[in-house]
Amino acid sequence: MLLQLLYEYVCAHPLLISSTLLILYIAHITLKPLNRIRRLGDVGLFFGKPELSGIYRERQLERLKLLRRMGEMPPVFPNGWYCVCESEKLEKNQIMEITVLGQFLTLIRSESGSVYITDSYCPHLGANFSIGGQVVNDNCIQCPFHGWIFSAETGKCVEVPYDEGRIPEQAKVTTWPCVERNQNIYLWYHSDGAEPEWEIPEIPEVTDGTWKFSGRTEHEVMCHIQEIPENGADIAHLNYLHKSAPPITKGSNIINTDLTDPQPVVQHVWDGKWEVRSEEEKHCGVMHLSQYMTLWGSKLPLTESKLIAEQLGPGIVHMTFDFGFWGKGIVFQTVTPEEPLLQRVRFRMYSDIPWFFVKFFLAVEAMQFERDVYVWSNKKYLKSPLLVRNDGPIQKHRRWFSQFYTENSPRILKDGSLSNQAKSVFDW
Ligand code: FES
Ligand SMILES: [Fe+2]
Repeated sequence: MLLQLLYEYVCAHPLLISSTLLILYIAHITLKPLNRIRRLGDVGLFFGKPELSGIYRERQLERLKLLRRMGEMPPVFPNGWYCVCESEKLEKNQIMEITVLGQFLTLIRSESGSVYITDSYCPHLGANFSIGGQVVNDNCIQCPFHGWIFSAETGKCVEVPYDEGRIPEQAKVTTWPCVERNQNIYLWYHSDGAEPEWEIPEIPEVTDGTWKFSGRTEHEVMCHIQEIPENGADIAHLNYLHKSAPPITKGSNIINTDLTDPQPVVQHVWDGKWEVRSEEEKHCGVMHLSQYMTLWGSKLPLTESKLIAEQLGPGIVHMTFDFGFWGKGIVFQTVTPEEPLLQRVRFRMYSDIPWFFVKFFLAVEAMQFERDVYVWSNKKYLKSPLLVRNDGPIQKHRRWFSQFYTENSPRILKDGSLSNQAKSVFDW
């Protein structure tokens, strides 16, 4: 009866119904926090004109990797904390395969909510825990092959279901130090087996909910990890590559953008400096940046922002923004070396800024970031760059960054293989 009435009403007012649905849909799209994901090849690489597709696109990607000159690069996995997952993506009792430091590892959330990371391969007969394994007894992993159970905390085998004898000493899987902070899950890596040397600061406004989740972006970038943080010390590129506001129609594609325009209609004006925080906290580099926008050369009101970006080791940046009238917030930028030359870069923003402004800001930020992706994905690493006076503290940044490498840090060899595999600090 009700359905019949509804049907008649819809038939009588088709225009009203369809326009209401359209408005609801548009509101849903615009109110939702931004979630921009760009996989390898989506941005930053050139696939010909007209764009190649299908198998030709895949072949072109292989060629781009093969023909690219990489230069004399530093080691590929610096020491530090790396984000391996965002908190809400790992539920209780979930087991997940992660890729980091050129290998698969297994990430687990116990029934009581703690997180653990272990090697993926079972010491019994080599099955991969994350493919079919289960979380059991709160924080243990049960292997999918013969059902052996390992503590994710200690790595020790605690049960062999079909054997009553003593469990062999060697029945142990390697675990990795990890921590959950600011709604991200981080893994610690050190090439000499040193345990965590510094902590990731907790941001109270995020923990207590003063700043709400305002959106995220995720990019796969084909470059050496050091290229990404080095951008923070490269002050001169800001007022060239990032000068014009990204036109909505062209997005971030620098191949189609006129970067030489001396007076773009909408322009970003940047000013910044970079320095090491202190001798005691030498893992931290700080960039101060201010920015405003102009329209036909005149400063636009309410577009001014101040940013303090704390680079914490090679893989984490805490960017605190002050938008004056609009509010404040933080962007967590994390760079994770999944493969020697494949970085996963995540931005997660928390703020008290109105949703429409935050969404616009994050989208523009992402497009500006993608301009860098075009450069990073195709450039060569120059060990001795030709620097001039106002280039910014690039060499200072490199000296600072070199603290994250040691003799044992894995390097890429001429044949593309690694000098040694990254291993857990508990595996020494
Ligand atoms: S391979 Fe894991 S229990 Fe046998
Ligand atoms: Fe940049």
